Amino acid sequence: MQMKYLYLLGYPLGHSISPALQNAALRARDIRATRYMKSPTPPEKLSEMVKVLRGENCLGANVTVPHKQTILPHLDELTELAREIGAVNTILKQDGKLIGDNTDAYGFLQALRVRRINPQGACVSILGAGGAAAAAAYALAQAGVDEIILLNRTLARGIALADRLNKKFPQLALAINDWDALAQSQLIINATSVGMSPRVDESPAPKNFSFPKHAIVFDLVYNPPATKFLRDAKQNGARVIGGLEMLIYQGARAFELWTGARAPIRVMRNAATAALQELLKSDAPR
Ligand code: ATR
Repeated sequence: MQMKYLYLLGYPLGHSISPALQNAALRARDIRATRYMKSPTPPEKLSEMVKVLRGENCLGANVTVPHKQTILPHLDELTELAREIGAVNTILKQDGKLIGDNTDAYGFLQALRVRRINPQGACVSILGAGGAAAAAAYALAQAGVDEIILLNRTLARGIALADRLNKKFPQLALAINDWDALAQSQLIINATSVGMSPRVDESPAPKNFSFPKHAIVFDLVYNPPATKFLRDAKQNGARVIGGLEMLIYQGARAFELWTGARAPIRVMRNAATAALQELLKSDAPR
């Protein structure tokens, strides 16, 4: 039997735990001749990698930093959701065509749902304006938040995301780089890569920012589980959420789209947790 592959495209990929959770799911569903593999792809190799995806033994792919937006022009079609979000984290193969989809928005909302958090009517601050931020913003706008404040290092990217959101959700109140509003938000989200291992002492929040006690603070980063952003928020009494559940649910939805099989959530959660524990052990100072 010819082996089939699912690829993870991103750069760098040293610490991704997606292979652990996807391969555990494939085994649990007895899908034997398929493997999920990391394919570290620097930007200059993206076109070459897209050719690999077009090969017969490729079933699909995940896309992560820094390609979630730059992959778009390489694909044959986009689902409506991916087009509206403007970012792709999952590629499906249909009749040889590469279809860009997005399961981050679902994963993000599901991570709130399992904690019984309903963001409807909330004022939300999102740090970042890349693919992950776009998916979170879109999901929150769909869920009926009142206002989204986009805070991003590069102003132009924040403006571009606000413009896209404004077209799709004309009722939504939007602000860009209004850092003073951060303290008034009910939900504060880090959708930047700042604070990710190995740079665990960095935070995207302003220096000496005092997180409001009433806020829910969500970091999409999953390694480390307690980022500096979350540690500071917790110290101020805020409720904190790490990125692991979102990773699991975006992966579960992608698995279902690739295989047509129901995602074994518990298996995926156990595999992700174990892989993360292993990583933390190997990262720990000796
Ligand atoms: P993803 O698709 O996973 O969101 P991305 O598109 O590369 O990845 O976006 C990364 C986000 O992290 C961006 O908002 C980026 O800010 P810029 O738009 O200014 O590049 C943000 N980011 C990354 N490193 C940062 C840093 N050191 N300080 C502040 N923001 C940073």
